[in-house]
Amino acid sequence: MLRGQQVCKRFGGIMASNNIDFQIGRKEIVALIGPNGAGKTTLFNLVSGMFPVTSGKILFNDQEITGLKPHNIQRMGISRTFQLVRPFMEMTALENVMVGLMFGRARGIGVAEARLKAPKFLEMVGMSDRMDKKAKELTFAERKTVELALAIATEPSLILLDEFIAGMNPTEALWATNLMKMIRDDLGISLFWVEHVMTAVMDISDRIVVLNYGQKIAEGTPSEIAHNQSVIDAYLGTESGREVVDAAQS
Ligand SMILES: Nc1ncnc2c1ncn2[C@@H]1O[C@H](COP(=O)(O)OP(=O)(O)OP(=O)(O)O)[C@@H](O)[C@H]1O
Ligand SMILES: [Mg+2]
Repeated sequence: MLRGQQVCKRFGGIMASNNIDFQIGRKEIVALIGPNGAGKTTLFNLVSGMFPVTSGKILFNDQEITGLKPHNIQRMGISRTFQLVRPFMEMTALENVMVGLMFGRARGIGVAEARLKAPKFLEMVGMSDRMDKKAKELTFAERKTVELALAIATEPSLILLDEFIAGMNPTEALWATNLMKMIRDDLGISLFWVEHVMTAVMDISDRIVVLNYGQKIAEGTPSEIAHNQSVIDAYLGTESGREVVDAAQS
């Protein structure tokens, strides 16, 4: 579904993305991991059209999307959430989801219709009882979930999820991973997912792509990644790296 070919992004002297090949299939959860500054968010910014690539190609359903504007890429079916959670704080959860409906693939629907359709998406993510709360009144985990509901409301076939679990407590994290599995299994939406919480990554990813200094250093199933020597050398010496090993062994 999504394919990147030799994708490069240069910021001055830094190659934030250095010749990266990747692909995401239908109904797949693919985690994108790596140390801080490895280039994970940058890759999402390239896929979503936020920044132009320096070189290389990105294709979605065999159509080249490199060079397209973010709103056009979104209308083709790629939605995203942000590392720094930023729903519309003065708007209610319901109104946030209405934005997704009015500006997503089904755009052209009016406010009244969006208001009728929005509750279904909050129900999907288990937030029916928070519908009329302003985003600023919600907990961190709830805000992240509203952003996800907004993303789902745009009717994507792929969501780029930038750190969904980080910052949640263990109960919320368990709930969130179940929600992600539901999105893949029941809604049929693929997830390309940046995450530092390795227990969650090891638990629900179909595949894992590992970046370090802008380069892809490994790719494979959770157990292949936990035993990959270059990943261990580059990454598993760190705190979140030790979590990978612990999670793989448990
Ligand atoms: N807009 C930008 N302008 C200049 N440099 C940038 C820009 N965005 C990212 N970078 C640089 O690119 C590199 C990769 O950053 P990026 O944010 O993609 O890392 P990351 O893997 O998402 O890290 P983290 O886990 O901390 O979120 C870093 O060196 C960063 O400083
Ligand atoms: Mg990031």
